[in-house]
Amino acid sequence: MIRIENISKEFTTQNETFSAVNNVSIHVEKGDIFGIIGLSGAGKSTLVRCINRLEEPSSGHIYIEGQDIMSYNDIQLREARKKIGMIFQHFHLLNMRTVEQNIAFPLEISKIDNQKERITELLRLVELEDKRNNYPSQLSGGQKQRVGIARALANKPSVLLCDEATSALDPKTTKSILELLKKINRELNVTIVVITHEMEVIKQICNKVAVMEGGSVVEQGSVTEVFANPSHPVTKQFVQSVSHDLPKAFITPNKNNELIKISYQSEGVSKPLLSRAIRKFDVDANILLGGIDHLDNHIIGNLIVEFSGEKEHIKETIDYLKRNNVICERMEHNE
Ligand SMILES: Nc1ncnc2c1ncn2[C@@H]1O[C@H](COP(=O)(O)OP(=O)(O)OP(=O)(O)O)[C@@H](O)[C@H]1O
Ligand SMILES: [Mg+2]
Repeated sequence: MIRIENISKEFTTQNETFSAVNNVSIHVEKGDIFGIIGLSGAGKSTLVRCINRLEEPSSGHIYIEGQDIMSYNDIQLREARKKIGMIFQHFHLLNMRTVEQNIAFPLEISKIDNQKERITELLRLVELEDKRNNYPSQLSGGQKQRVGIARALANKPSVLLCDEATSALDPKTTKSILELLKKINRELNVTIVVITHEMEVIKQICNKVAVMEGGSVVEQGSVTEVFANPSHPVTKQFVQSVSHDLPKAFITPNKNNELIKISYQSEGVSKPLLSRAIRKFDVDANILLGGIDHLDNHIIGNLIVEFSGEKEHIKETIDYLKRNNVICERMEHNE
């Protein structure tokens, strides 16, 4: 659906050149809700703005449904942009226009007939039928974003780009907007790219994720894989922000014991691997913390276990678990 290949973007200010996006390649498949996460300044907005050429990439290629949009002239680009909706953190609504007139705006530009009908359909989708004649100043943040979504969908796009679409909203409203995006993805078959600095957003709706730092993608994959086994320090930080933390006071340091973080996926849940392992290798396991996460229809379990016994036996236990696709990571006692 969207193939970003070796995209770089440099900004030149006075006599300095700044590399905001650095050789990024991402492949978004039809039907994906693809998350791009990173700290402020990582280059997320710049990258996403390259997808519809709101920002001209310095180098690289962008293919949308197989078409190289870098080769498009202005007229072709304008047509292509109709198929790529976009929503923003601060909604960008026209304050002098009512809800209906805001949604009508892209339809007017495209000279679409039966605008009233289409607007009614869109208002029903975003559940704002009763706000048709209100002005943006008469709406809550969540309602404004719903208008933004309706406007972005007016031309029936196949792709929706969301730049921090929920960052200005409270957790409950965020949840309802994310649910709406999920519904749009499922029912209207719209491929969605979500930019965020919150792992919670990725966890709630995305099936794939790319992690950006300093203009580069440092890790990408399915959300389940990345959650279960984050490898880059930035990813680890993001994952930790939504996983259950072990209170420090909980750990009684015993230098002879091994503190292991265990992660297992759906398949592992059905097998009593841990109890088999401790019987087989004669070690003790003290479970300090456990939690289950639901991600993209998968289950990921996390346990923090303190193993005690012969060093060699503990090693065999961990090897056994790893052979059975359980991820084991040694933790420091003061972590
Ligand atoms: N027009 C511009 N001219 C010069 N530098 C820019 C321009 N736009 C962005 N940058 C720089 O590029 C870097 C990446 O910016 P970008 O807006 O893509 O980050 P971001 O990941 O979206 O951050 P945030 O989470 O704060 O929105 C920043 O260091 C920014 O200062
Ligand atoms: Mg941004």
